[in-house]
Amino acid sequence: MQIFKRKDLLGLEELSKEEIEEILFTAESFKEVSTREIKKVPALRGKTVVNLFYEPSTRTRVSFEVAAKRLSADVINVSIETSSVKKGETLIDTGKNIEALKADIIVIRHGSSGAPAMLARHLKANVVNAGDGWHEHPTQALLDIFTLKEKKGKIKDLKVSIIGDIAHSRVARSNIWGLTKLGAQVKVCAPKMLIPPGIEKMGVKITNDIENALNDADAVNILRMQFERDEKAAFPQELEYFKTFGVTEERLEKAKKDIIIMHPGPINRGIEISSAVADGERSVILEQVTNGIAVRMAVLFLVSQSQEQNHEDHN
Ligand code: CP
Repeated sequence: MQIFKRKDLLGLEELSKEEIEEILFTAESFKEVSTREIKKVPALRGKTVVNLFYEPSTRTRVSFEVAAKRLSADVINVSIETSSVKKGETLIDTGKNIEALKADIIVIRHGSSGAPAMLARHLKANVVNAGDGWHEHPTQALLDIFTLKEKKGKIKDLKVSIIGDIAHSRVARSNIWGLTKLGAQVKVCAPKMLIPPGIEKMGVKITNDIENALNDADAVNILRMQFERDEKAAFPQELEYFKTFGVTEERLEKAKKDIIIMHPGPINRGIEISSAVADGERSVILEQVTNGIAVRMAVLFLVSQSQEQNHEDHN
């Protein structure tokens, strides 16, 4: 019996611990598919997945496409730049037209927080949030947590520090919801100007001291400065930031020997992370990217199944 019965995946805030665990468990079984000579299962055969990305993406868009293809779905990528969005079509009208073209699942990335939720309310198709404004990036957090669990064998009681631009980060928010629900101890570390007011209410500790964030951590998740999100915000100078908050080999000397280094990407070398750390043996940054396929296969499969279950429940 499937625990996750939602039509859409919009964020981790609304998910229970059990729903998150089910997604991770399902991803574990899908990970094996990528090791086969023929990397395909028929789980979504006959379904159509549409990627609707209003913001740039490399990792998320490609891995949703790979994930959908591994599940045997048909995949269509809408290029916003050459779409009728440029003629003034609204998000809801675009969504309804894509649904009229018989899309079963719409994967959306949008610059406005809440855009996927609004779309989901207007459509029968499953909607999956691939990142909305400063709000949430649920599949990124799920793949981060999946990678952490794979490396450490558990999530409960792990100490995880999230370092960087917390204020503008949907990745930070989704990670905090997911990690705290699964029992990890989360600390956020940034200059004061990049710590959003009230973040402690999400159950995290706060520090402005990079040594404090690194020293007892089992894992760190390093975030880039999102200069593009808030032109009016006071950001630290890049060089100044690297000197004070950059994660370097020298700073990691006092950290736990088996600390793992995560980053959702794209990385900005020499700003939030040194090349030696990004490419070093404790880095799992590219493993996170690979795990994104299995996690997104799990999410596409579960939302698709849940709609069928809901439909059956109504009959
Ligand atoms: N981590 C992440 O969302 O990367 P992309 O913007 O390349 O999808």
